[in-house]
Amino acid sequence: MKEIKIKDALIPALGFGTFQLDSTQAKTMVEAALHEGYRHIDTAQIYRNEEAVGEAIKASGVARDQVFLTTKVWRESLGAKDFLPSVEESLRKLKTDHVDLLLIHWPNAAVPVAEYMEQLMEAQQKGYTKFIGVSNHTIALLDEVLATGADIITNQVEYHPLINQTKLYTYLQEHNITLTAYSPIAQGKVIGNPTLKSIGAKYGKSEVQVTLRWLMQQDNVLAIPRTTKTENLISNLQIFDFELTPDEMESINGLRRENLRVINPSFGPQWD
Ligand SMILES: NC(=O)c1ccc[n+]([C@@H]2O[C@H](COP(=O)([O-])OP(=O)(O)OC[C@H]3O[C@@H](n4cnc5c(N)ncnc54)[C@H](OP(=O)(O)O)[C@@H]3O)[C@@H](O)[C@H]2O)c1
Repeated sequence: MKEIKIKDALIPALGFGTFQLDSTQAKTMVEAALHEGYRHIDTAQIYRNEEAVGEAIKASGVARDQVFLTTKVWRESLGAKDFLPSVEESLRKLKTDHVDLLLIHWPNAAVPVAEYMEQLMEAQQKGYTKFIGVSNHTIALLDEVLATGADIITNQVEYHPLINQTKLYTYLQEHNITLTAYSPIAQGKVIGNPTLKSIGAKYGKSEVQVTLRWLMQQDNVLAIPRTTKTENLISNLQIFDFELTPDEMESINGLRRENLRVINPSFGPQWD
């Protein structure tokens, strides 16, 4: 497994996402993921499965300190009054005294960036999380985040071959911040893409595996695919036994002209 070293953190580059997994699925799949070798799990308050994720980690027999665990504070809990109590509730549900990474899930125009970043830094000072970061933040918002002096390690955003994130990725690289790719297989929309299919045929790999490999070959990029099927969870891990050539990387880069965004809620920011 590739690991990304960023500041003092060492993070398995391929993690397991749990969006839209109900409690039963989250319990089964997180346990299966840990059994198959995943050591990085991504959840969020709004997924309403933190309890199941916590149970799965306990039941897996994998030591807590061997799992890089991320959760995210929902946009309605960003204010100074609600922030820390919401994190305490997450920790209770996750059955742990700290997470490894705590993220601001989405910006919220009603709460100033400086206000929620102060809360996030306080959560870190209290030991509720080892590292801090943001999600769904644009370059303009990241400028505000960095102006607070916060030492964030990631911005978790939609990233896969069909979206153009060049500007944001360049900014993150310049500031030594990782990009965690969510919806890394575009919620299945990479399947059937002729470019990914023909590259995969050369290695005996699927479009999904080629996509995940393309992400793994980029500097400071992590990815957190989600699945409800053990066989997919296993095949998503089988991406470290082949290597895309520079030409293949380039032809996959070319797919970004489609600029497909699968996650675009009305409360989202003005994307870069
Ligand atoms: N920060 C945010 O705002 C945010 C937003 C979205 C997502 N996320 C995080 O990112 C994670 C991943 O994103 P996502 O859940 O949106 O979508 P995704 O991982 O891009 O795609 C999930 C879909 O792909 C299918 N799939 C997975 N592996 C497959 C394989 N090997 N072959 C064929 N199909 C496969 C799954 O179906 P099956 O179940 O049938 O395998 C599922 O329908 C989330 O779970 C969450 O942790 C964060």
